[in-house]
Amino acid sequence: MPASSLAKKKTSKTTPNASARKKADQYNDPNYNYLQYWNGRAYENAAEEMAIKRLLGRKHFQVAADIGGGYGRLCLLLENYADNVVLTDPSRQQLDLGKKFLKGHDKIERQLMQGDDLKFADGSVDLITMIRVMHHLPDPSATLAEIARVLSDNGYAIIEVANYAHMLNRMKHWLHGEKLPTKPVDIRSEENRKNKDEIPFVNHNPKTVVRQLEHAGLRVDRVLSVSNLRSTRLKETVPLGVMLAAENFLQIPFASIFFGPSIFFLVRKAHYTVR
Ligand SMILES: C[S@@+](CC[C@H](N)C(=O)[O-])C[C@H]1O[C@@H](n2cnc3c(N)ncnc32)[C@H](O)[C@@H]1O
Repeated sequence: MPASSLAKKKTSKTTPNASARKKADQYNDPNYNYLQYWNGRAYENAAEEMAIKRLLGRKHFQVAADIGGGYGRLCLLLENYADNVVLTDPSRQQLDLGKKFLKGHDKIERQLMQGDDLKFADGSVDLITMIRVMHHLPDPSATLAEIARVLSDNGYAIIEVANYAHMLNRMKHWLHGEKLPTKPVDIRSEENRKNKDEIPFVNHNPKTVVRQLEHAGLRVDRVLSVSNLRSTRLKETVPLGVMLAAENFLQIPFASIFFGPSIFFLVRKAHYTVR
């Protein structure tokens, strides 16, 4: 069954109407090529793939959807875990880049849609990934509600969070005698903040995100701390294989202290049946 046949009108009323929803198409900027962003980031890319493989183990799904999947960087991996994969993004430019990037991978569909208005029927997707998107969502509640709505009862979602509470920030706050903020922190430059068309860029407190997930009807099953060694100096001096061996060792033990800059949550519906 092609995944596009799942794209039915939704039935619930969890999301704001179209006029209240802000369009998130900033990645249409012709001067920005997100493919090139990944040059020099082999460590981060491999660390994220490692985390996804670890969280999914030997599971297999009928339909997977990557929310805000960009040009489909991670869809090639998802292809190993699902019969049908849908790359979704609110940016036409990203999906067009994806056409070339995913050439020959015919079971990966591309669909234009935004996280807070997913064009899937209730309970119709059994694997959802949303990686490097939360940093564009200062208030992720509508998107998390949509994920909870479209996720099947036995489904899994992997949601990545740009972590404000990573170890370096915790030490900085501790040295200044300051508490960590619970609300998202805007990390844009002063100049970018003034531009109302500039895409939001925030880091989240993972404890707050756990509460937001719960509020959406999702519960956290597993946590991983990812890209623990993200540092330009380390990447320049330590061989990639060594970096990844260390990363492999650290993702699980560092999760409970939210050590790294990127936290991966494996979540399920709060009331799911045993698979
Ligand atoms: C940093 S890229 C990440 C792309 C991909 N997930 C990856 O990890 O390679 C962020 C993506 O999120 C998309 N995006 C921004 N706001 C969004 C929203 N509200 N809902 C869904 N996607 C969004 C952008 O268009 C962009 O493709």
